[in-house]
Amino acid sequence: RLLIIDFGSQVTQLIARRLRELNIYCEIHPFHDVTAAFLKAFEPRAVILSGGPASVTDKDAPRPPSEVFDLGVPVLGICYGQQVMMDMLGGRVERGDGTAEFGRAYVTPMEDRIDLLTGWFLDTREQVWMSHGDHVSEIAPGFEVYGTSPNAPYAITADLSRNFFAVQFHPEVHHTPNGRTLYENFVRLAGFTGDWTMAGYRDEAIARIRERVGDAKVICGLSGGVDSSVAAVLIHEAIGDQLTCVFVDHGLLRQNEADEVVAMFRDHYNMPLIHADESDLFLGELDGVSDPETKRKIIGRLFIDVFQKHATEVGGAEFLAQGTLYPDVIESVSVSGGPSVTIKSHHNVGGLPEKMGLKLVEPLRDLFKDEVRALGRELGLPDSFIERHPFPGPGLAIRCPGEITREKLSILRRADAVYIDQIRKHGLYDEIWQAFVAILPVRTVGVMGDGRTYDFACALRAVTSVDGMTADYYPFSHEFLGETATRIINEVPGINRVTYDITSKPPGTIEWE
Ligand code: XMP
Repeated sequence: RLLIIDFGSQVTQLIARRLRELNIYCEIHPFHDVTAAFLKAFEPRAVILSGGPASVTDKDAPRPPSEVFDLGVPVLGICYGQQVMMDMLGGRVERGDGTAEFGRAYVTPMEDRIDLLTGWFLDTREQVWMSHGDHVSEIAPGFEVYGTSPNAPYAITADLSRNFFAVQFHPEVHHTPNGRTLYENFVRLAGFTGDWTMAGYRDEAIARIRERVGDAKVICGLSGGVDSSVAAVLIHEAIGDQLTCVFVDHGLLRQNEADEVVAMFRDHYNMPLIHADESDLFLGELDGVSDPETKRKIIGRLFIDVFQKHATEVGGAEFLAQGTLYPDVIESVSVSGGPSVTIKSHHNVGGLPEKMGLKLVEPLRDLFKDEVRALGRELGLPDSFIERHPFPGPGLAIRCPGEITREKLSILRRADAVYIDQIRKHGLYDEIWQAFVAILPVRTVGVMGDGRTYDFACALRAVTSVDGMTADYYPFSHEFLGETATRIINEVPGINRVTYDITSKPPGTIEWE
């Protein structure tokens, strides 16, 4: 296995991701945990020293134990990792007064070619991503230079006799387009065959959960979304009936959704599941409320109360399981943000663990969304479930502008089901990031048969997006839109007019509220 020693770079997880893509098993450990004894026990076949925000020129700058360089295994230093390597092996690093470099740069090769660079410089130079303040001013004895950029004369260096490599740029980021090749070469040099798979990840994750939880009880809030479902199934595999899931049904779910969730988890997976049908409570408190933020706040507050009430019924639980993903982790530790405006209060169970005195288990913390899906497939969750569009916590409440009534919800559910059925039938579901119907708070006049109608209008929404932060409306054909409108009006009593929402985000948001 490969050891990544983390010095605190924002992109360390991306190194792990690149390696997982190459079917290599690796673990990230923060530098302060990596002692000589740790190294001995870990027995890495190769080591990567990550980037990080510190300066090697500071007296108490973080360093790996010097034994890293005595293991006889390949070592790759990246950015701060390069600097710390040079410093510890007898080179020099200087503070980057005026030589800081951020962003795109181009590296050109020296005449000698090394195996690490197989597949590089086919285009004579390579685009790389730099992000450093300090720089190496003298390389350590034994090292040679194999690539330079205008601001980094030591962009790529290596000591081939010891298989030590050090680069100033970040090969793991998207803006170093051929970075993956560099990792591929490095792990090949280290003797990895690339036979590790998601099945392997699953086994290791299960072992880690067992170790963390022991024989304690765990509760998990199940929403029916991909993340919490994969987390629940994984934890159930690890600790069986020590896990109880609480599925809060706020009465704002889509057609058949509650039944499907219960059938899958309780009947198919045989998991202890509390189906908290609290629709009367939620719809009661939402009665007469039309302000979007007030709706969100009510739902968020009740959700926590209800979850807490049912979780307490389990009795003696010590852990709360959450389907936190790596992008959520980066976001919550991001230092770049500063105070930002609340556009919508997103509902989550933040703060709940402290309030209930629970410890967290977050088995998906180092995975990206597509990896969670791959893990879900590995765990046998059906494809139709894993590829589902995202669904917001407040559910249909925010797709029902104005006052929420049971009548409107029931019309909305039926219209949404017809719309999604249309999208699936036309093979468009996977091309679209999210699609749904919103029922509008207006009635309009129509004519059906020989009679006058006075029913609700609805809006269809479908967007393409990468992460939900920005979005574009999906360019359906007019035939598709016409056919869908006809079906909805024919099949859903209560709707007599259908519109298509062609707003992008920004300036619109994806949801209507
Ligand atoms: P907006 O409407 O802000 O939505 O453009 C972006 C994405 O977030 C989802 N969304 C939510 N998800 N809790 C959630 O878990 C919420 O309160 C919430 N509000 C919006 C929305 O469905 C879209 O995918």
